[in-house]
Amino acid sequence: MTNAVLPETHRRHLATLRGMPAVLDAEGLRIGHEFVMFFAEAELMHGHATRLTEGIARPDVLEVGLGLAVFAEQLRPHRVGSYTAVEPHPGVARLARQRVLDTFDPPPVVLTEPWQLLTFPIGAYDVIMYDTWPPDGHADRDFATFVAHVAIPCLRPGGRFSFFHSGDTVNAARQQVLDQYFAGWAVHPYTMPAALMPPHWTKPTRDFLIPIATKGSA
Ligand SMILES: C[S@@+](CC[C@H](N)C(=O)[O-])C[C@H]1O[C@@H](n2cnc3c(N)ncnc32)[C@H](O)[C@@H]1O
Repeated sequence: MTNAVLPETHRRHLATLRGMPAVLDAEGLRIGHEFVMFFAEAELMHGHATRLTEGIARPDVLEVGLGLAVFAEQLRPHRVGSYTAVEPHPGVARLARQRVLDTFDPPPVVLTEPWQLLTFPIGAYDVIMYDTWPPDGHADRDFATFVAHVAIPCLRPGGRFSFFHSGDTVNAARQQVLDQYFAGWAVHPYTMPAALMPPHWTKPTRDFLIPIATKGSA
């Protein structure tokens, strides 16, 4: 988004996130005390990476919300043309670099500002993955803004968009955004096997959707 100003709620939320340490352990990544991503979500992220890239030779990929870099790890075998990640927490970005990105080929670009303050190139990506941590109560509004101002302008015609989705139903607000902006979209259910659940699992369910929305080719 060009010349954007971060709203006060987002500014405070981001300052809080950045003020907490990023901690890696055997289960996953915490910011402060809260787990943001688990290694157990690798199979889920494998589904996103595979469905987003299949049939596209050397896709240019943008991920918003690098986190533990589980998606990036699953993306690596798909041989991308380029990979750009957005992660505004410097400690999170550093851990992801050390654990995954330093050996990524081609070398990734990591942007360390919130997506709202960045200007992304128009029509430059084949694939966009959105998995961020908005302030409470802002998830759907941020999603709509991201689709309208980043995903649609920055995807190439026919490009694919996905987002992290916990639970088995896309809510009406998101359905409306997907219907309005994309030529088509589908969801692919995934249930994490109980045996994979880490001891400190905090997410509301083991049921997820892998949504894939496709930009029109016009
Ligand atoms: C759930 S994690 C992402 C997990 C990641 N997809 C993975 O595979 O490991 C969400 C991340 O979004 C980041 N984030 C928070 N606000 C953001 C913003 N405005 N723009 C981009 N990323 C943001 C958080 O710092 C956090 O690391």
